[in-house]
Amino acid sequence: MHGSKAMVRTLLEGLLAGSSADGKADLAVFPSFPYLSLAQSMLSGSHIAWGGQTLNPNAQGAHTGETSGGMLVDMGCRYVLVGHSERRSIYGESDEDVALRFKAALDAGLEPVLCVGETLEEREQDQTETVVARQLDAVTNAYGIDVFSRAVIAYEPVWAIGTGLTATPQQAQDVHAFIRDKMSALNVIIADQLRILYGGSVKGSNAAELFAQSDIDGGLVGGASLTAEDFLAIYGAVA
Ligand code: PGA
Repeated sequence: MHGSKAMVRTLLEGLLAGSSADGKADLAVFPSFPYLSLAQSMLSGSHIAWGGQTLNPNAQGAHTGETSGGMLVDMGCRYVLVGHSERRSIYGESDEDVALRFKAALDAGLEPVLCVGETLEEREQDQTETVVARQLDAVTNAYGIDVFSRAVIAYEPVWAIGTGLTATPQQAQDVHAFIRDKMSALNVIIADQLRILYGGSVKGSNAAELFAQSDIDGGLVGGASLTAEDFLAIYGAVA
């Protein structure tokens, strides 16, 4: 819930000027809903994709205040985040709720970015893999593995989001490898092609080392995506 029309315009102008279609990374932005139409008008035909930050699991109907996958498609979105930790912790989305949103995104023709990750308490109790496995199982048990050929996973340790604490490259790599192995057990080809992003205090100064890990395919960036300068420092760290 950051930004304004002026801020989004300045940010997108900066990103368009400072990135290119032949860059090594794919670039997407996830503005708040009121700014999706601005993103659509500024980014259409460019190399930068955009997406929503959540969606309602229903396709349409009397759901005052909610936004459907079809509406996001109508705004030109390619992606939508599902199960961001703030949706889970502040707005009470259960693993099952997240799975329904994941499916609704696919049904609408969007690529869901499924966010998973443990809290500090869960990490300290050595529950990281158990929690991440449970969050992934909620989707694969309901909808299978093939749906991940049109999806992205973001590993975001809750204790690292917006806190300035970053998982060490090795801590992140360990969980990313766990996720890829778990998906490999269901389908090796899909697991190999799956993009697994790391999120949690990614910034220009730590991005290169994170992205150098073999199972870290990119970043999901919060605070450092709010100015073009900070975001482009991360984009520039892709080797
Ligand atoms: P952060 O946020 O980069 O500010 O830690 C990440 C996120 O909210 O996904």
